[in-house]
Formats: sequence, structure tokens, C-alpha cells
Amino acid sequence: MVKITYHGHSAFEIKFDSHTILIDPFFCGNKHSKINAAEVKAEFIILSHGHEDHVGDSVQIAKKNSATVIAVNELANHMASQGCKAHNMGIGGAKEFPFGRVKFTIAHHSSSFGGAYMGEPAGIILNLGGKTIYHAGDTSLFLDMKLIGEMNSIDAALLPIGDNFTMGVDDAVKAVEFLNCKMAIPMHYSTFPVVNADPEEFRRKVESIGRKCTVIPFGGSIEV
Ligand code: NI
Ligand code: MN
Repeated sequence: MVKITYHGHSAFEIKFDSHTILIDPFFCGNKHSKINAAEVKAEFIILSHGHEDHVGDSVQIAKKNSATVIAVNELANHMASQGCKAHNMGIGGAKEFPFGRVKFTIAHHSSSFGGAYMGEPAGIILNLGGKTIYHAGDTSLFLDMKLIGEMNSIDAALLPIGDNFTMGVDDAVKAVEFLNCKMAIPMHYSTFPVVNADPEEFRRKVESIGRKCTVIPFGGSIEV
């Protein structure tokens, strides 16, 4: 079993066996997060890209827990320069870690931190035991999602629906079709007014194409 806890925006805590992995741990400044970054425990942090609403509290959490930050080259180098343990990867590359396998996919977006270039933005495919989770990062809809779906049997696809910076609801519904995923989970919505979106509208539209969608309440968990 893989336990997925949603902390709002694109921040997820993934528990598998004895491992805890954080993805895009943006807690401080995220109105939907009840997490105190000073108290959170994790062994690994995976970052989709360098924007402040995704890097979030990574430096503090990584240093306190001696956690390894897994990110695309330029962003990993930046995290290392901040005193974090980092593991550098590139888009299309996969690597086995103690908890499972991580592969970075393309994402169509940008990636910077404090105005500095942080390499290309990424999506993340996690293989944990027999389960596959795809975190799309910040991205537009792209046709290669069909390829991602063809090559991976995705149990849960975490997809941005907030529009403006990423896919909106209708594009994310198309993504569900392309990915052929067993379940879709909306993210990156309603944290700020500019990304306001209705996750129930997304759920209804995903169900109308015969697919499953779970809206995880902020702070809530599901098991896959
Ligand atoms: Ni972004
Ligand atoms: Mn974002």
C-alpha cells in the first residue's frame, strides 16, 4: 500500500513501507497546509521544478532531516549550494532509490528560483512496490502524455487543474484520457485567487469520460 497525503497546491507526502517522501513541499505560505515545516519528517524530497511554490520549505526540511533532494541538475545544484544533500537527475532519466524508482518526464512550463535558471521543469513517475504514481508538476497538456500512459500503468495521476500557469480543468480531463490512468487526483488549485478552480467540476468531467477521480481534501490521505 502507498499512502498519499495532500497538503494543498502540489505538495504531497508519500508513505511506502518505512519510507516518507515529500513532493514539492510548499507549506509556509500555503493556506491549505497545516504542516509545520520545522516538525515534518522525511528521508527524500522530490522537486518538479524551481518555482517558489514548489521548492517551498525544502531547504529547511532537508537540512533538519538530512534528507536528499532529488531534482533536475540545475535545481539540484542550487539545493546543494544551500547546504542540502542533493541527487541530480535529468529529464527522461530514472534511478532506483531505497524507496523505489524515480523517473523524470517532460513538463511544459518554466523553472527558475529567485530569477535564476533552474533547468527544465519536470513531471515525476514514482514506482513504489507494484504501484505507479505520476505527479505532472506544473505543465500544459501535451500529447506525449499518451506515451507516458502507454509505457506506465498509472495507478494515480496527480494533475494540476488551476489554469493560468498550468492546465485548467478541461485540459486536465484530456490528460486523464491520454494517460489512461486508473485514478486522477487534482492539484495546484485555489491556493491563490489566480489559480481558483473547482475540483468537483474536474471530478464530474473525469467521471463523465468513464474514469475515476478522487478529490483528496486538504490534509487528507488516500491509499492506493
Ligand atoms: Ni511553476
Ligand atoms: Mn506552480
